[in-house]
Amino acid sequence: MNFQSKLTHPVFKIVSACADEMQVPAYVIGGWVRDLILNRPCKDIDIVAIGSGIELAERVSKKLGNQYHVNIYKNFGTAQIAYDDYDVEFVGARKESYRSDSRKPAVENGTLEDDQNRRDFTINALAISLNAANYGELLDPFNGLKDMEDQIIRTPLDPDITYSDDPLRMMRAIRFATQLDYVIEEESLASITKNKERIKIISKERISDEMNKIILAKKPSIGFKLLFDTGILHYIFPEMVALHGVEVRNGKSHKDNFYHTLEVLDNICKTTDDLWLRWAAILHDIAKPPTKRFEPNHGWTFHGHEDKGARMVPKIFADLKLPLNEKMKYVQKLVLLHLRPIVLAKSEVSDSAVRRLLFEAGDDIDDLMKLCEADITSKNEYKVQKYLKNFELVRQKLKDIEEKDNIRNWQPPIGGEDIMKAFNIPAGREVGLIKNAIREAILDGIIKNDYDEAFQFMVAEAEKLGIKIKE
Ligand code: CTP
Repeated sequence: MNFQSKLTHPVFKIVSACADEMQVPAYVIGGWVRDLILNRPCKDIDIVAIGSGIELAERVSKKLGNQYHVNIYKNFGTAQIAYDDYDVEFVGARKESYRSDSRKPAVENGTLEDDQNRRDFTINALAISLNAANYGELLDPFNGLKDMEDQIIRTPLDPDITYSDDPLRMMRAIRFATQLDYVIEEESLASITKNKERIKIISKERISDEMNKIILAKKPSIGFKLLFDTGILHYIFPEMVALHGVEVRNGKSHKDNFYHTLEVLDNICKTTDDLWLRWAAILHDIAKPPTKRFEPNHGWTFHGHEDKGARMVPKIFADLKLPLNEKMKYVQKLVLLHLRPIVLAKSEVSDSAVRRLLFEAGDDIDDLMKLCEADITSKNEYKVQKYLKNFELVRQKLKDIEEKDNIRNWQPPIGGEDIMKAFNIPAGREVGLIKNAIREAILDGIIKNDYDEAFQFMVAEAEKLGIKIKE
């Protein structure tokens, strides 16, 4: 098979000329070739030379008129040229040998076959020749093309070797299976299950990186089911494993919260590409296991799981080395508020309850509504339609109140500074109490959202605390 006509990026002709001048065989290999065949965009071009990758890169850079700088990493024997928004990497073909306690191999020079052998999957081991003599020719020693047709993830070597050498590949296998909707070949899957414990030698950052790629796929449940079934999830995210299972008591059972969570996650993927909203879906019921109780008159309850769940978020983020910044706070907020719109769906709800939710959710109210709608996973289509209709009413109520009161990014008309000035008192407990009382009174509709009314209310509240207005 020849891909000459597909090598449209200008760098390939230049690499070709340089490689021929040096009389060195050179190939484009790995992810770029895979994505070319799959018609997926790819900005990373990996060039492998049967010789020095660094010398080839230096010559390419020279031919480009030194317009593109070459970065050389002598220790790794690699070089890189940033070609507009493409990242072109050069390396000499290598043979790798691994020790059991590390994913960093000992490296020696090798042939193209050695280089293809050391790669993770047959679909990632394809190479296209760049030398003039066979420009565009596909070298596919492991039938990667056939595996693409059959939609299979398979390792070039014995999977026990491939996965044990670099256990991150177990995550990569599951990630590719999820992104491409491929099946992991049977022996490979058995090998992941067998080698699962070796995931421990992989850094948390790399694991989360792969997990986030799974979450950003069209249907992340594929990946999470594989992570669970192989036992990897038990090592990397035990809180999620705890959601699995159904308990029955007195003939009463609860739903399996693991599969429910995955349904919610797949649902929300239809309405958002945002990683953190998807994370909120994963974590919305995370505290159901630790809050689960059986009450003889009610059956299973999970009281306070939204509150406890929000409090679990920082530790989960820290363990997974996810950012502990405003993204985490956003996820926490959605977990905390995820039951609130359900309450609003009841018809007799007061304006003040709607106002309060708008105030607490702020600009995240639309995302919260998406989460609640995704949370409807009943098998009964009639019920699903009924709940969705109720949420439509909630959206309308939110819109009406927002138009009337403009509460979304609202700040009360009187803040802490005003209180300190009015009574000539320092910052402290009393200021906080008065400030909160004003905010609550406005949210509850006891007073209007207006400076004068708030001022009078403040004076009255202060008096209750024995504080008088400054003369
Ligand atoms: N590779 C490997 N084992 C790994 C990582 C990478 O064998 N643990 C090989 C594969 O041949 C892969 C190539 O190195 O195609 C480039 O890896 P990388 O750029 O990390 O990933 P891609 O396969 O290109 O895919 P993605 O960009 O989606 O991560």
